[in-house]
Amino acid sequence: MIVPETTTKLSAFAQDVQNGLSSQPKFLQSKYFYDAEGDRLFQKIMDLPEYYLTRCEAEILQTHAVDLAALLRNQPFDLVELGAGDGLKTRVLLAHFQEKQLQYRYFPVDISRNILDHLEETLQQRWPDLSVFPLEGDYFSALKKMPASEANVRKVVLFLGSTIGNMTMADAESFLQQLRAQLAPGDLILVGFDLKKNPELILAAYNDSAKVTRDFNLNLLHRINRELGGNFQPENFQHWPLYQPITGHTKSYLISKIDQEVYIEALNLTVKFAAWEAIDMELSKKYDFAEIEHLATLAGLKVLTYFKDRKEYFTDALFMV
Ligand code: AVJ
Repeated sequence: MIVPETTTKLSAFAQDVQNGLSSQPKFLQSKYFYDAEGDRLFQKIMDLPEYYLTRCEAEILQTHAVDLAALLRNQPFDLVELGAGDGLKTRVLLAHFQEKQLQYRYFPVDISRNILDHLEETLQQRWPDLSVFPLEGDYFSALKKMPASEANVRKVVLFLGSTIGNMTMADAESFLQQLRAQLAPGDLILVGFDLKKNPELILAAYNDSAKVTRDFNLNLLHRINRELGGNFQPENFQHWPLYQPITGHTKSYLISKIDQEVYIEALNLTVKFAAWEAIDMELSKKYDFAEIEHLATLAGLKVLTYFKDRKEYFTDALFMV
């Protein structure tokens, strides 16, 4: 049977692209940056001299692994990492937990099966007696797939890397509330926040001289071409990052340099761009401690401590349910 194009079920990606490019103003969701090419470009971003976030958080985990281990020593726990990726940032933490012979199981959560298989294999090779249970899926469905923890085993959830910065504060609040609803009193959440700082440093991190961040944004247009049969000409769009010091919003836009039309075959959609019309691409919110405090209160969480790097560019905040 031939299914007419218009009644074929569209993927979530296709629907979200359709919705975003039909909206006024136009937007695309930055969670779609991470296809294979996007993953590769983000790896390059983490190595950029301007992109301080990853190195700051690595320093935090290195210097405060001892403190965290001391906090966790007296009770077995299930360590859940939301968006584990290649698990590189957590390796230091696990190394320390292994050395201190803490009693725990590790549940890396990621939407990429591929990256989880790879992670499981490398961890099993390095620490054959570590219990690793990869959970595939989005954060909440994965959490629901977790085997119930035994009595007296607490959950420790890691949400690192300033991923929370991709949400507005209102979205971050409801995210943390939903997360808390899956947890029990005494459970812990460690969240990575990028902090407000000299705007020159922030802007440079999203406007690198090697133009990798520009390509990272433009890759989403390429992805629409590849997966949805679009005919974007990415060179007709200009990358425009900016930082707003009051809200802490670091925004990035792709701006159409000319009047143009783009056709997307899978959506049977023609998108018109006026010259200098923008697509809202990404939010990377920067916090101050008062805002983190406020967010915790709104989400019903207690702040136990802030782990910081020496320059105080970044913090991993430890919350308790
Ligand atoms: C992976 C969401 C933390 O917002 O800093 C890097 C993604 N965007 N450069 C961030 C990103 C542009 C990154 N996060």
